[in-house]
Order: sequence, then C-alpha cells, then structure tokens
Amino acid sequence: MAAESPFRPEILKGKVALLTGGASGIGYGISLELGKHGASIAVMGRRKHIVDSAVSSLRSLGVPATGFAGDVRNREDAARAVEGTVKHFGRLDILVNAAAGNFLTPAEHLSPNGFKTVMDIDAVGTFTMCHEAVKYLKKGGEGKDPSHVGGTIINISATLHYTATWYQIHVSAAKAAVDSVTRSLALEWGTDYDIRVNGIAPGPIQDTAGVSKLVLPNITKENDPLFRLGDKWDIAMAVLYLASDAGKFVNGTTMVVDGGQWLSKPRS
Ligand code: HXC
Repeated sequence: MAAESPFRPEILKGKVALLTGGASGIGYGISLELGKHGASIAVMGRRKHIVDSAVSSLRSLGVPATGFAGDVRNREDAARAVEGTVKHFGRLDILVNAAAGNFLTPAEHLSPNGFKTVMDIDAVGTFTMCHEAVKYLKKGGEGKDPSHVGGTIINISATLHYTATWYQIHVSAAKAAVDSVTRSLALEWGTDYDIRVNGIAPGPIQDTAGVSKLVLPNITKENDPLFRLGDKWDIAMAVLYLASDAGKFVNGTTMVVDGGQWLSKPRS
C-alpha cells in the first residue's frame, strides 16, 4: 500500500527524467513519484495508447509530462525519445531503464530467438538508452549550464540471477548483464562525467505484469521474511533515494528492494 512519502516534495525540482517502460507497471509507479517530487517526466513505451494515457494521468496531477511510443530494441526510437525529451524540456537529468520483457518457459523449449528477444529488450536496450543519453547526462552536457552537476541512471534489474530461477534462463542472463552494465558505466561515466549509475532489483511487486505473468505461488510465511508482496511505491522510494542528493555518494550498486525475499529459505 502506498504511504505518504518521507521525502520533501521538491527534492527533484527542476530535474527532467526519462523512463523507458515508464507508462505502466513499476515504471509508471516510478514516473508518478518522480513527478510528485518535482521532476518533469518523459515516458517511453511500445504501446502508444498506454503512453498517452500515462501522460494524461501525470498531467492531471499537475506533473509536466510528455511521451514517446517506441521500442528500446530500435536505436532510432531510443534516440528519438532522448532527443525529444531534451527538445521538450530543455535538458535530461535522470534516465530510468524500466522496460523489460518476460515469460516463463523451460530452457529446453525456449528458442534461441526467444532468449535473444529478452536479452535485446533488457540488456541491449538498457545499454542503447544509456548510450543515446550520455551526452545530455554528463556534467555540463548539452542543454545544461556549465555549472550543472552530472545526471544519474537507474537500471531496473531483478534478483533472479543471484541464484538460479526456474524457467527464467533468458531474463536471468539479461538481468546479470544489466547489473554488469551498471557497474561498468558507473566506473567509466562516474569518473569521467560525474554520472552516477545504479540499479534496483525489485522483489515481487503486486499489480504488475511481472507477478501476474510469472506467478509466484510459493510466497508464504515460510520463505518470505516479510510475508507480503511489495508495492510499486516501495520501488519508487528507492529510485527517489538514488536519484536525489540523498544518494549522491552511491555509484555502481544494485539495491535489492524485496523485503529480504531472495535470500530466504524455508525454516528447517
Ligand atoms: C516461449 C516465447 C514466448 C513464450 C515469446 N517467445 N513468448 N517462447 N514462451 N511465452 C519467443 C517467440 O516464440 C519468438 O521466438 C521470440 O520469443 C520473440 O517473440 P515475439 O512474440 O516475436 O516477441 P515480441 O512481440 O517482441 O514480444 C516480446 C516478449 C513479450 C518478451 C515476448 O512477452 C513482451 O515484451 N512482454 C511485455 C512485457 C513484460 O512481460 N513485462 C514484464 C516484465 S517482468 P521464435 O524462435 O519463435 O521466433 C520482469 C520482472 C522480472 O521483467 C522479475 C520478476 C520477479
């Protein structure tokens, strides 16, 4: 259940955020809270009507918002969303890579193209967006005054690959790559451009495609210390921490926000 935010409502005042997958699910939950805390919001998603609806909802709450229909697997779409955001709002400070693809399937029945499809969306798509955005995120980057500090990137990951997860070989591999991209960019762009790059690994979050498609029927008191699903709000609060000055010394980490679920085992 969403609670009152512990953060001041103006902590992201003047900032501009672009979120892939930002029109639905966890991505929209993040868009909403970034907007409520002062940021202008650009959302990118594959389905135009979902993007339009998200933009309308954000605007109805007084959040400056715009949207781009596009697929992170398409470099032109990625560039169009980044350039369009800067054209619309004049700058870019925060990139959240929340676009993801998933389905449950035994490895034996997963075609190489099915594996590649999820790698392309989650891993290559994340890199493509970062690559298109870096010139605007860097300290003193285009559209910023020279005194401006560097921006930040937050990659939405998962905990699937910390161990091994049934029927998720493709997503596990893709999220492992995402975490590696997070660390490499944190090193290179943190050092050279003052851009902080971090990740968030959500646990099961209620009212999302992740939970309804992947079903996690084994969440019980026995294997979940907090015995509950998380809320989109929980993930959004973690993003606010990382994107705001509260997280200004955090770089290259992927923060697990799952109530301790991934490390739990049944009581013996
Ligand atoms: C086996 C499948 C499949 C399935 C697709 N494929 N669905 N294989 N089981 N259920 C295979 C296809 O056969 C094809 O390979 C290849 O994948 C590409 O399929 P397309 O349908 O052409 O791809 P596309 O239309 O681009 O769809 C992408 C998608 C789709 C990933 C398949 O499901 C999708 O984008 N879903 C939307 C987003 C989503 O699910 N979001 C939730 C993420 S949750 P062949 O060989 O036949 O050509 C998340 C959380 C993780 O990430 C952590 C949870 C706790």
